[in-house]
Amino acid sequence: MRPEEGFARRAGALLRAAANDLKRDDENAERELGLEKGTFAQYADGRRPVDWELMRRAAQTWPLNERDLLPLHDDSPAGVRIMRQEESRASSRVLSRAGEPYYEYRDTAMSRIASYRPEWIRMLRVVDDNEPENPLVQWNRGHLLYQFTYFIGPVNYYYRWDGVSHCVPMETGDSVWGLPFAPHSFAARTSAEPACILALTYGGSLVGDAQRELAVLGNAATQALAVPLAEGARLPGAAIRSFMDAGAVTVAELADRTGISPRRTEELAGGSVSPDAKELALLATGLGVSVRDLLLPRSGTVDGVSVQHARDARSWVWPGDGATAYRITRLAGDPLHPHTSALQVDVLLDDVEQAAPLTTYQHQYLYVLGDDPVGLRWEFAGERFEYTLGPGDSAYVRPQVPITFAAARGGRPRVLLLRISGAVTPEVRYAVGTMAAGGIDRYVAEDRLWYS
Ligand SMILES: [Fe+2]
Repeated sequence: MRPEEGFARRAGALLRAAANDLKRDDENAERELGLEKGTFAQYADGRRPVDWELMRRAAQTWPLNERDLLPLHDDSPAGVRIMRQEESRASSRVLSRAGEPYYEYRDTAMSRIASYRPEWIRMLRVVDDNEPENPLVQWNRGHLLYQFTYFIGPVNYYYRWDGVSHCVPMETGDSVWGLPFAPHSFAARTSAEPACILALTYGGSLVGDAQRELAVLGNAATQALAVPLAEGARLPGAAIRSFMDAGAVTVAELADRTGISPRRTEELAGGSVSPDAKELALLATGLGVSVRDLLLPRSGTVDGVSVQHARDARSWVWPGDGATAYRITRLAGDPLHPHTSALQVDVLLDDVEQAAPLTTYQHQYLYVLGDDPVGLRWEFAGERFEYTLGPGDSAYVRPQVPITFAAARGGRPRVLLLRISGAVTPEVRYAVGTMAAGGIDRYVAEDRLWYS
């Protein structure tokens, strides 16, 4: 199937799903959208392209947004999208700060399916100290996207949190994960060797629908919806209070449902006291939710960042049995993002046949570090693909695509993997896992009226 055919088919399926949601059959949809008799089915099955005019009319007539009818472009139809170093180099541009060249940026592999915006960046500014307030350091104002950064060479990392500036001298293999909107900067400690970073920014579930919804709801509502997690501001009972509000449940009613005393219930509801395991189970049953819904996540960030130096990073071999294919090193991350994993992979085997494939539910980004090329094999839709990637090459890998690395030409290649989740949160995975038989087929491509 040509890419534009897939796009048209997905657009048609979204139109059909929207009409179903609004309980419009073909005849009613045609009348309301001013379409010729008999054409709605052709739009819905992709024979006629859903054009801007039709989307505009649908968004005007029906309570939906143009965006609801817009599918994604599939730019990695073979499961993996590779970007060669030459292509990255061709995207090179120098960004100035305060009128002076400060960074050289190069794009690396991105995909329209995932929220990665990964850049290779070379530091053009050289400093001769590790002072956070060095006037040569030019700060940004922070940005929305989460940033995982991998350091190559003598790079100083600067970050600011609550008005206090910090500087951490980094070496190759060090990494950091940072929260949105914290100002930061980078500089080289010497011009004698390359000082670069891989700045792997991504939005995850913060971008897309959530941001659009909150932009309409506005600032005050977003402030009210925000759940603080920092020590001191964190209220373990916040989730309990939310469900009480949702169900219009009083303290007396919850106490009655759970058998927990009204005084203790009051203390637990929205307070700073954590329920014990037995109370959690009673509260979950009383509120009709799962225990996990009542638990707040934690963040291990200090002043907005999690720093992982290579010298004390955990590493192990993989897989646990059979031929050892890789040495894996765990890089910076945070419990706030349990579905983000940053890994450094040292490839130990020359023979791709012997190496075990790596598979994950996450979107994957990979970048070839070091000087040695690496063989990459993957399987997608029953087909097998094999490429050799050189240093500086990068790739995007779709979820659930098994990939295998092998050393090419006797080298010892090293690959950086950053795995993230997208819009498919655990809630969505549970939902598709509980659909009625045949539901998944229709969820990914609605092809019929909801009744016959
Ligand atoms: Fe950044």
